[in-house]
Amino acid sequence: MDPEACLGLRPTHRGGDLWEANAGWWQDGFTDGADPEYEEQILPIVAAWLDGARAVLDIGCGEGQIARLAVAGGAERVVGADPTRAQVEVAEARGGGPRYLRAGAAALPFADASFDTAVACLVFEHIEDVEEAIGEVARVLEPGGRFLFLLNHPLLQTPGSGWIDDHVLDPPEQYWRIGPYLLEEHTLEEVEKDVLIPFIHRPLSRYVNALADAGLVIQRMVEPAPPPGFLAQAAEYGQAATIPRLLALLTVLAEAGLPARGGQ
Ligand SMILES: C[S@@+](CC[C@H](N)C(=O)[O-])C[C@H]1O[C@@H](n2cnc3c(N)ncnc32)[C@H](O)[C@@H]1O
Repeated sequence: MDPEACLGLRPTHRGGDLWEANAGWWQDGFTDGADPEYEEQILPIVAAWLDGARAVLDIGCGEGQIARLAVAGGAERVVGADPTRAQVEVAEARGGGPRYLRAGAAALPFADASFDTAVACLVFEHIEDVEEAIGEVARVLEPGGRFLFLLNHPLLQTPGSGWIDDHVLDPPEQYWRIGPYLLEEHTLEEVEKDVLIPFIHRPLSRYVNALADAGLVIQRMVEPAPPPGFLAQAAEYGQAATIPRLLALLTVLAEAGLPARGGQ
């Protein structure tokens, strides 16, 4: 069998060519102190929630900054998985203790119950088969294991959202506009000149219901204000400092059986 299909690299990763071509954008701009949201917000939240983790799977690990954080925090076994070869190669070169392999989130090449902690940081907005991927998280976690789930805020950062200075109204008003929230939307965003990255917007209920169906119970939800370092370099965001960009969920796999399903 084609080894790439076997690891789920093809069906789960149709935007893969763009990630292969543009991995450098991520590797240069978002790690090693380059990005204030990671430095001031994401890494501290993840470090706190990783406390006491022994065996950690970092899903969509990119160049490995979360995996390295897990090792630095004392985890004994840390594995980073990402379908993008250009990410895994740089992660391996940056070292720091984790082991890496290529795999898509919807077909994780690990035994059932083989980790006590899984992390997916800003990954699911690039994954097509979300229910399968969350099902895989639950499968590879041991009962009582944790899943740290971080997303661009699915409600407040819906495509088309942004700060509006509306002078048509009398008197003028300023407000945060939200784009068409209930539509699942696949977009190609030009994140900088000639760098296209595929994103998928879906309503928050799609994620929460997939977690519930997989037996992953929400313990904590954090919607932090954008941190000072980000606001200092994003003038257009200055007046929207009460609008979170990040949603972080700490979930735990139910010890026995799945909770009853809701129906909708
Ligand atoms: C925004 S980066 C985040 C990287 C890392 N989690 C971090 O926080 O630094 C998104 C990553 O998701 C990966 N990715 C894309 N599709 C994926 C899939 N189907 N399964 C797992 N990872 C995927 C990309 O290759 C990329 O490395």
